Amino acid sequence: MKHLRERDEEGEQSLQRFHVTAERVDRRDRVLLKNEEERSVFEEVFDRQTLMILYSMSNNGLFSYLNGAISSGKEARVYWGVDEKNANVAVKIYLVASSDYKKRLHYVVGDPRFRKIRKDSRGIAELWARKEFINLQQAEMAGVRVPHPRAFEGNVLVMDFVGEDGIRAPRLYETKVTKSDYESIIRQLRLLYSKAKLVHCDISEFNILKLGGEIILFDFGSGVSIEHPSADEYLKRDIGNLNRFFSKQGIRTITEEKLFARISGKRERKIEATGAEQ
Ligand SMILES: Nc1ncnc2c1ncn2[C@@H]1O[C@H](COP(=O)(O)OP(=O)(O)OP(=O)(O)O)[C@@H](O)[C@H]1O
Ligand SMILES: [Mg+2]
Repeated sequence: MKHLRERDEEGEQSLQRFHVTAERVDRRDRVLLKNEEERSVFEEVFDRQTLMILYSMSNNGLFSYLNGAISSGKEARVYWGVDEKNANVAVKIYLVASSDYKKRLHYVVGDPRFRKIRKDSRGIAELWARKEFINLQQAEMAGVRVPHPRAFEGNVLVMDFVGEDGIRAPRLYETKVTKSDYESIIRQLRLLYSKAKLVHCDISEFNILKLGGEIILFDFGSGVSIEHPSADEYLKRDIGNLNRFFSKQGIRTITEEKLFARISGKRERKIEATGAEQ
């Protein structure tokens, strides 16, 4: 049993440590974001723990500063960061306060890679960052073109920035698409299924980038193992979304049944259009 005074001193010291860290975080906020306006949004949106994580990542050299938000969704914000070597990185921060996660838990439950999950809001945000990181790694190792994942910590994921001079590459719907784009996506989905053993689960013209004519798949947070009980159903939905977009652009598409067989390597059979929207 420690002496009471000793414990008081310990308490006092840890309180002091907390104040020092809190001050450092405040200072670091100023360093992380140079733009005044962005900074106040930043402080409003993110909790202290997220700021601490960003601070620690920046200390570890993952980025020197953040240049501003590329996108602010309901579940995550993506920032354009710059690392020590002046290379651009994308920093995706999952929002701890988002209420939308619960609706998407079915992309985790049933995936044998994630058996134990924390269901509190920080736990879920951290799970999405970890899951997206792992999915990107698995996809990259299989030869799928994705933004290279650099690191993750807590609810923050750092990956290569896809674009030039800090301008992100256009998403598929912002470009003029060709038959060869369609074929390239099919090839990538096949690799994803057969080698990475994953289904993306959120394929749409909004989650595919095109840089110098090259197709890059991203936004892998929802991706599931092909062993997930609903993996094939999700794949069919991805195929439906893909075909719907390309048909609208006047490109002749392969039937959904054939595409399912081609991507999954499973026997061709009649499939029902799910009609599911993202
Ligand atoms: N690695 C990257 N390089 C460049 N831009 C990126 C990168 N990752 C994401 N972005 C940009 O940020 C946007 C949002 O990213 P992402 O789709 O991963 O997040 P999200 O929160 O799921 O968004 P949404 O709900 O809009 O799908 C993308 O549409 C893209 O413009
Ligand atoms: Mg997206």
